[in-house]
Amino acid sequence: MITQSDMKRYGWTIVAVLLLSILCPHTILQAQVMQAPKSPASPRPTEQYRPNFHFTPPAHWMNDPNGLVFLDGTFHLFYQHYPEGVVWGPMHWGHATSSDMFHWEDQPIALYPDSLGMIFSGSAVYDEKNTSGLGKNGKGPLVAMFTYHNMPLEKSGGEAFQYQGIAYSNDQGKTWNKYASNPVIPTPKGARDFRDPKVIWDAKKQRWVVALAVKDHVEFWTAPDLIHWTYQSSFGANLGAHGGVWECPDLFALPIQGSKKQKWVLLVSINPGGPNGGSATQYFVGDFDGKDFKLDPAFATQLQREQAVWLDWGRDNYAGVTFSNFAGAKGERLFLGWMSNWDYAQVVPTGTWRSAMTLPRSLSLKKVGADWRVRGVPGPTLQMRDKQYLSVGPTALETPLNLNALTGIRPDAMELVLEFELPDDPTCKVGVELRNSLGERYQIGYDVGAKRFFSDRTQAGKNDFSKDFANKVSTGPRVVKDRILKMHLYFDTASCELFADNGLFQMTEIYFPSQNFNAVQVFSTGKTAVLRKLEAFGVKQ
Ligand code: FRU
Repeated sequence: MITQSDMKRYGWTIVAVLLLSILCPHTILQAQVMQAPKSPASPRPTEQYRPNFHFTPPAHWMNDPNGLVFLDGTFHLFYQHYPEGVVWGPMHWGHATSSDMFHWEDQPIALYPDSLGMIFSGSAVYDEKNTSGLGKNGKGPLVAMFTYHNMPLEKSGGEAFQYQGIAYSNDQGKTWNKYASNPVIPTPKGARDFRDPKVIWDAKKQRWVVALAVKDHVEFWTAPDLIHWTYQSSFGANLGAHGGVWECPDLFALPIQGSKKQKWVLLVSINPGGPNGGSATQYFVGDFDGKDFKLDPAFATQLQREQAVWLDWGRDNYAGVTFSNFAGAKGERLFLGWMSNWDYAQVVPTGTWRSAMTLPRSLSLKKVGADWRVRGVPGPTLQMRDKQYLSVGPTALETPLNLNALTGIRPDAMELVLEFELPDDPTCKVGVELRNSLGERYQIGYDVGAKRFFSDRTQAGKNDFSKDFANKVSTGPRVVKDRILKMHLYFDTASCELFADNGLFQMTEIYFPSQNFNAVQVFSTGKTAVLRKLEAFGVKQ
């Protein structure tokens, strides 16, 4: 209850926040981090394909997000980084920080390879109770757990070349010390692929749990102190998508939307084996008792039908994991993925750097009919909104709506909120098309007859760098039947992210027009769909 004295002390902010939490739960996540950034974003050179609002390394190679952790108002993004080249090489952990997930400030490289190996992917936690004893002056440290990859050992034909190490920081992530007695988990006998530790705190059992990707399954290990680890269980060898190697797991509880209960979600990236080729991330819904992860019975049935359940149907959202020590007001998890695909990541036509991260996304869990769906909506991105260029009400889309002519909006820094009323016509497709003066075009939309979303970059510009890049149109199924279709889209210089049906469908794809796209239109083919709503915003730069 809000009292009068509360009102005096906190003013209208408290009322606004409470109202927002009732009307729009995801906004709270945004409200928590919508403070002014502590420091300006580190500038990036003006180069072709440099994103306007997605994180890229200052230079050179980047892949997976690592060590995502929130501490004292700061989001830490570590990432797989090779600071001497634009292709994958000896891995380091690059580092950037942000107070709003939008303005990122570069930090010195956090972890360098050493005599035990390169520093592969992993996670970071705040060891608040100093269980590790690695803290200082009564304060717990940040502890990063990562995989050492020992290349000479691999090359000499040995098997035990991946093992887990830890490092700690007592100055809020500024500097890191490797633990003196690494590795903390040596390679178990026969395990060649043994990597990407994601650590969580089990509050019930008062111990740490780590999920590790082990070739074709996930293993759970536990430790009282982040140092002495014991194997507990394995999951997944015969479930979900296989064929590629399992990588980068993440385990977290999510409240069930509209209920007081929660379920556990296990994310598992797989490469290759994605639904549209190459790398992608699948998930499992179940229960975790601190030892075993067991599939929810409804999810088991769903899995039999769908074979694998995908987080994002586009080709460019891989190795994504969630932030430690941070949850939205309703328990949502904040996720970040690598916006590329191992099929072509090392040959995309960017100059001095390679790869960007996705936008942060807020994940929640919803039952749709008998099925479980992890929903993903843009995370704290409201503060990115610039000018609102256009808002149109219901209009029949007899001819494409050309946003440029109307507004002058830039298709390389743009947010669109669209609502279509779909006609009863299997030949109808609705969507958005970007174009440039060379006639190159990118299309993203929904095919009413096929009941599938699509992303078509086959004519979107440069694609001769890889035979796998634009060999086909990516598609994915709609999981609801509503006549009203909502599409929320973010377009940057070289990427599109679609959140449809309030986040029940996500699709992320990159493209490389020879010249920046400069025209955008909303279209409907076949029998005309009604555009019930269109809001177009610029994105601040
Ligand atoms: C996923 C991955 C991880 C590994 C890292 C190496 O993209 O292959 O499994 O730790 O990249 O850079």
